[in-house]
Amino acid sequence: MGSKIIGLGMFAPPKTLTNDELEKLVDTNDEWITTRTGIRERHIAPPGTANSDLCLEASRRALADAGIDASDLDIVIVGTVTPDMPLPATACFLQMKLGAGRAFALDLNAACSGFMYSLSVADALIRAGRGRKALVVGAEMLSSITDYTDRSTCILFGDGAGAAVLSECDNGDGVLSCHLHSDGSLWELIRCTGGGTVNPYGPETVQNRLNFIRMAGNETFKHAVTRMVEVSHEALSRNGVTIDDVDLFVPHQANMRIISAVGKRLGVPDEKVFVNLERYGNTSAASIPIALAEAREQGRLSSGDLLLMVAFGGGLTWGSALVRM
Ligand code: COA
Repeated sequence: MGSKIIGLGMFAPPKTLTNDELEKLVDTNDEWITTRTGIRERHIAPPGTANSDLCLEASRRALADAGIDASDLDIVIVGTVTPDMPLPATACFLQMKLGAGRAFALDLNAACSGFMYSLSVADALIRAGRGRKALVVGAEMLSSITDYTDRSTCILFGDGAGAAVLSECDNGDGVLSCHLHSDGSLWELIRCTGGGTVNPYGPETVQNRLNFIRMAGNETFKHAVTRMVEVSHEALSRNGVTIDDVDLFVPHQANMRIISAVGKRLGVPDEKVFVNLERYGNTSAASIPIALAEAREQGRLSSGDLLLMVAFGGGLTWGSALVRM
């Protein structure tokens, strides 16, 4: 018994933050941001929004797409680094708001690889017989941990959510394999160090601005390219296919230059690479499921297609999945 994707949905808050608007906040400009990253705007949730509100919209759409009810779900997983609060899990809020009373719910923190990790865990739980239907969400409100005085990071991040419904499948299609890796020795490259047990919340945490994401952009960039290429090859060789067999390549939407470098090294033609980061920026765990929902809507992901997804993020974490839609 394996699992297959039977529904997709996404949601991004309507308000956008454009490069022109960022020019008024920090010393930057549209030309620098577009050439270095490919990003033109990102969506920002209004005050009073909880991450689980974004999850809820995306999940409702995915459930409608799948044609099932929330009460049919056995498992709810939310991949995120920006939970509603430290306790309880955002997935529990989502379970309550959806009315998925039968499901057990958990959060998973693998930063920008959050959807790859969540998909892999859900697939493994279904294979192990722990449930038949799973809701897998990647959702972030990165605006809540972005320092809008730091030009090297505030230009990158946005808010949004994407969701996939997984159902058991016994014909060998669906999720063919998932591949996950981590390297905690490189944790400092992407970090938000305030608010945990090491630096609990308090005046000093806020004074030292530890509640914001910090990133060593240049070094992160190099690791991202190498690891995403490696783990893509791992998925292809495990399944005895080549990149030519792949119908759609959906990489984590972090930076256009990373996507181009990975695509070039893998030998994927541009028309098979899905890119929407110009409109969303880097939405971390949400980037791949948002891309999947949009690809489907645009008719670029059809039944029978071979889909290769790959992500990289803080931790460090990285992973890939090969899926027959
Ligand atoms: N506007 C204008 N100038 C900026 C700027 C901005 N928003 N941000 C940085 N700069 C400046 C730097 O201060 C530096 O100036 P200096 O040469 O006078 O010191 C110069 O631009 C080059 O900075 P650098 O950090 O080397 O730029 P870069 O080409 O590496 O691009 C990133 C920076 C962040 C866009 C890039 O490193 C990146 O995308 N890295 C990967 C990040 C990522 O995707 N992380 C998530 C992975 S999940």
